Amino acid sequence: TFANIPLGPPDPIFGLTDAFNKDTSPKKVSLGVGAYRGDKGKPHVLESVRRAEKKVLEAKMNHEYAGIQGVGEYVQLALEFAYGADSTALKEKRVAGSQTISGTGACRLAGEFYARFMGKGSPLYLPSPTWGNHVPIFRDAGLEVKRYRYFDPETNGLDFKGVLEDVNQAPEGSIFLLHACAHNPTGVDPSEEQWRELSALFKRKGHAILFDAAYLGFASGNVEKDAFALRHFAMEGHNFLMAQSFAKNFGLYGERVGTLSAVCASAEEAKRVESQLKILIRPMYSNPPIYGARLVATILTDPELKPLFYKDCKAMADRIIEMRSLLRYSMEKLGSKLSWRHVTDQIGMFCFTGLRPAEVAELKEKYHIYITDDGRISIAGLNTANVQYVAASFHAVTSK
Ligand code: LMR
Repeated sequence: TFANIPLGPPDPIFGLTDAFNKDTSPKKVSLGVGAYRGDKGKPHVLESVRRAEKKVLEAKMNHEYAGIQGVGEYVQLALEFAYGADSTALKEKRVAGSQTISGTGACRLAGEFYARFMGKGSPLYLPSPTWGNHVPIFRDAGLEVKRYRYFDPETNGLDFKGVLEDVNQAPEGSIFLLHACAHNPTGVDPSEEQWRELSALFKRKGHAILFDAAYLGFASGNVEKDAFALRHFAMEGHNFLMAQSFAKNFGLYGERVGTLSAVCASAEEAKRVESQLKILIRPMYSNPPIYGARLVATILTDPELKPLFYKDCKAMADRIIEMRSLLRYSMEKLGSKLSWRHVTDQIGMFCFTGLRPAEVAELKEKYHIYITDDGRISIAGLNTANVQYVAASFHAVTSK
């Protein structure tokens, strides 16, 4: 049965973690997968999450199945977190929502939804570049993956003109994926003014929109600010899908807790969409795991834990911002002839360094520093003990 199964390549992101774990060098540094670490380089559990764990344990809850859409209370709270408690769409019950297997599961469910209702082979446009996993997620869901211009390597910033042209030229019936904030891998986001312009353009074109919101609160430390695009599009009357993850902002990576929601035209439409999300979910995994959802719901309803969470989240965002400065100034102090300004200009967990594949390979082989092939580094992997070593290594491979 298996005789003709070919050996597949390792995953471009998780494959790096495997290689890093096998590396016995004491100097090794993991800047691959986007998972937050504290200044000691260890995985980090938020204080608010620790306290919520205790509360969930003490509540002696049962282990019954959740509904197909997951833990009901959690879904409502998660949507209020994203769209704002005062969101008109939520108040008018125009938002269909379901718990998902984190952001990846939400994107995949969105892909299945589009393939079923917009048709297999419908064009879905991803920014160039984008998170590596987006491509197989939507391809495997049966959509035709296309690209729109996004990053300008000349300026290390947004190619806004390119975005506008590509949105404008895409054929009717296209789907666009927009990173709601902290674009992965570039750390380059549209400004609020540019989001407004994009909203107006999407209105005219009528393309379907999927927001991928994996970093709310994590980009700037302020959920409201990070949710600007989502909330603006909702306020402007767009109908769209939104994939939400609690992996990064709540540090609940392995609990796989997220949502997929659809901002609809009416409450009646939302009911129809919701019924179809359930029909898509049931044959895939029946219903999602409950533990992570309980933690998020506990935090978002507890008058002490909620403000503590905002503090915890801001502390992570602030440490990342500090590491950006430290890396940039270390490069400048070493006398690098390249500009490292983009390290502090970009936001979120990642920096798109501009390191080339050969430099990335040398960093791995000679310096035991693990980076994805596109030159993206997870700033969360830097700390006061390793940043000088990383900067010196970057300088060594880029100054030849
Ligand atoms: C990343 O981009 O490193 C993270 O989102 C983890 C993942 O699932 O790839």
